[in-house]
Amino acid sequence: MTNVKQETTHEAQHTAPVEAWDAIAALYDEHVAPGESDLAIAGLRLAGLQAGDTFLDVAAGTGGLSVPAARLGATVLATDWAPKMIEHLNALAGAEGLDAVGRVMDCHALDIADDTYDLTGSQIGVMLVADQAQALREMVRVTKPGGRVLLIAYGNPDEFEALHVFIGAVQAVVPEFEGPAEDEPMLEFQVADPDVLRQRLIDAGLKDVNVDTTNQERIEVRTGQQLWDWCLGGNPIPGMLVADLTDEQRADIIRVLDGMIRERSADGPAVLTAPLNIGVGTK
Ligand SMILES: C[S@@+](CC[C@H](N)C(=O)[O-])C[C@H]1O[C@@H](n2cnc3c(N)ncnc32)[C@H](O)[C@@H]1O
Repeated sequence: MTNVKQETTHEAQHTAPVEAWDAIAALYDEHVAPGESDLAIAGLRLAGLQAGDTFLDVAAGTGGLSVPAARLGATVLATDWAPKMIEHLNALAGAEGLDAVGRVMDCHALDIADDTYDLTGSQIGVMLVADQAQALREMVRVTKPGGRVLLIAYGNPDEFEALHVFIGAVQAVVPEFEGPAEDEPMLEFQVADPDVLRQRLIDAGLKDVNVDTTNQERIEVRTGQQLWDWCLGGNPIPGMLVADLTDEQRADIIRVLDGMIRERSADGPAVLTAPLNIGVGTK
């Protein structure tokens, strides 16, 4: 591989098909979802989740938001278009005896009746889909009148530390690597501007919309391998960008990441942060 980006289609850099999410479901479950529970609880508290509420999780993955919601006493339906994600979620919910069940569903067309849920939420999920306006309208449609809709999304990409550390390490080994295309923002950051998120929630039919910008995603890693697994397990796009690297190049990148992480940590793990926008509105 010399310039991975030139060998990757433009569309592939911006969206990932369902098969690509299925392919990372095990990595996601092991390396990403467990680190999300503080964030999920912060979002659920901002949305006013109460024990006994019915909660719908949209683009739920392996349960990063659903599992904390069920542990807080909600009755949860978790939906995701990727069957492998739902398999992991159902296995965890079953093992813990949680009141949560997963079903395969595309967020653009939810197979759910109008006015069903007390709270409908999506964490780092509807944030990144192609027709976000349609997905938000669906979230509002299935929420009870007076119920709330929660959307947790990444903020400013310039402050997304893990992404920059990862790209820096790849460039240290493959200097011509350009990273994601700069001519069109990644869908992942389509509501990075809190005002855009606020307006999209209003346009979807919500009132009393508030966007909190005080929370961060915190990624704790001790080794380069852990950061590599977090990046490749959290979203298919990093894996697509480095698909043509040799095993030797991958091993070199992980060594570079090891050094970067050592520089950032004293005794404990290195902490990498990313800003978040947490939007909540009422139907
Ligand atoms: C970054 S993961 C977030 C998972 C989970 N919400 C969490 O907090 O850990 C994004 C999820 O969105 C799902 N997804 C992407 N497009 C989707 C769509 N059109 N309909 C439903 N789920 C989708 C993916 O399969 C993946 O599980």
